[in-house]
This record gives sequence, structure tokens and C-alpha cells, in this order.
Amino acid sequence: MNATTADAVTIRDLRIVYSSGRQQTLAVDGATLSVGEGEFVALVGPSGCGKSTILKVVAGLIAASAGSVLVGDEPVRGVPDGVGMVFQNDALLPWKTVRDNVRLPLALRGLTNREQDAEIARLLELVQLTGFEDFYPRALSGGMRKRVALARTLAYDPRLFLMDEPFGPLDAQTRILIGREFLAIWERLGKSVLFVTHDVEEAIALADRVLVMSPRPGRIVAEFPIDLPRPRDYEEIRFEPQFRDLQRAIWHALT
Ligand SMILES: Nc1ncnc2c1ncn2[C@@H]1O[C@H](COP(=O)(O)OP(=O)(O)OP(=O)(O)O)[C@@H](O)[C@H]1O
Ligand SMILES: [Mg+2]
Repeated sequence: MNATTADAVTIRDLRIVYSSGRQQTLAVDGATLSVGEGEFVALVGPSGCGKSTILKVVAGLIAASAGSVLVGDEPVRGVPDGVGMVFQNDALLPWKTVRDNVRLPLALRGLTNREQDAEIARLLELVQLTGFEDFYPRALSGGMRKRVALARTLAYDPRLFLMDEPFGPLDAQTRILIGREFLAIWERLGKSVLFVTHDVEEAIALADRVLVMSPRPGRIVAEFPIDLPRPRDYEEIRFEPQFRDLQRAIWHALT
């Protein structure tokens, strides 16, 4: 592996055309971006500009029509190793308890039962769900389900997180709570993240760099390094003048 030189994700001149029947949609045209090793990059842009499409290409779920996509130094062909994707829909298995939802990736990784139990305890503590091991997803709130989904993604131990509006359907207060927990976890783990959101404040609070996309066909039209110090206080940082300036600049780039 060549982790010291290769970026976590490298996308060059990406073009994606969807064909359904005779209908062709040019979704992404000429997108170029990268995510450094251990870097948190947020992607913002108008609805339908191709954000989810880009994540799906990196996850190996759809193929590029043109251009190149690398995870580490490997061109993406099929689902790459070490990539964890969090979709907007939390996709927990409703017939399995919290414990068994988190166990699944650990079993896939070949951990012994004893190792799985220890890891489940550690992950549920991390997302503050200790005591809910035997609950079924239907008995949890939306925010709690999101945290289980996050624990399950962490259980895959991915090198790269692809997150598509992971806090999307939550109310504003829960969104901030989950955002704060996720930020604290991420700042400890330092994994590479490509994170799609509609929420400019969320993007600034979390990311090292915010990329702004054009309307469809999407490409990157602006890039904002977020030089706010870490570890960040997810709520308080919003009141910093530097945060407000970034917010204003990104809004201008979006419109
Ligand atoms: N499976 C598909 N078949 C045909 N067209 C598609 C398909 N998926 C997406 N598209 C089209 O590609 C474009 C980009 O879609 P995409 O889902 O990537 O947008 P997005 O930026 O994630 O939008 P949103 O912010 O609303 O989630 C849209 O015009 C959409 O209609
Ligand atoms: Mg989308």
C-alpha cells in the first residue's frame, strides 16, 4: 500500500451519463476533486447537481462514463475495500437488535464471538447507546437509529467514509446532537471522509475543506479551506466571526 503518497480519493474529469430507455441525463460533467488521507471534505450544491452520484461512483455502485476515480492508488472497479457508506436512509435490519445490527460487520471481519462482544460494547459506548443492546430499531428514536447506523459503519472499520446527508431527516436539535457526537468521534479517529450535505453550517462545522458544486451537470466551482482550529466545539463555533465569513462566502458561491 502506498498510503503516504496517494490521496484517499482522487477524481479527475468525471462525467456521468444516466441512460434509462431513450432518456439520457448528463448528471456530472468534468468534476475534479480529491480527499486527502485523513481529510474531511464536505460537498455542497443544489438539489440534483450530482452529489449522490459522485458518492455512488466512489463506492463502486455506478460506473464513470468518462474520467478517472481512484480510492487510494487503485482505480475503482466494483466496491472498493475499506469503504463505509452511510446513506440518508439508515437501513438498519428491523428484525435484528441493536447488538446484532452492529455485530454483522464484525462477524464479516472474522472476529471471534468474544472479540465481537468487546467491540460492540466499545462502539455502543462511543455513540452513547450503552444499555440499548437488546432494543429493536422500531423502539428507537430517529436519532438513536442514526447512531446505531454510525456504530455499524464504524464496525466495518473503513479507511474511508462516504456519507450522503447522514443526518438529513432529523430535526434541527437532534441533528446538532448527532453532528457533535460524530465530530468528536471523527476528530479522535482521523479517517478520510467525503460528506454530502445541504446544510452549509454543518459542512463548515465538520469539514477541513468545503467544495461547492454547480447545478446539474455538476462540477466543482469553488473550494473553501476551513481553517478553524480543532478540536472544534460543534455548537459554539457557529458564533465565531470566521465561521460567519465562511458561511457568507459559501452562500455566494452557491447562488
Ligand atoms: N438512477 C438514475 N437514473 C436516471 N437519472 C438519475 C438517476 N439517479 C440520478 N439521476 C439524475 O442525475 C441527476 C443527479 O442526481 P443526484 O441524485 O446525484 O443529485 P444530488 O445532488 O444528490 O441531489 P439531492 O441534493 O436532491 O440529493 C439528477 O438530475 C437525477 O435526476
Ligand atoms: Mg442526493
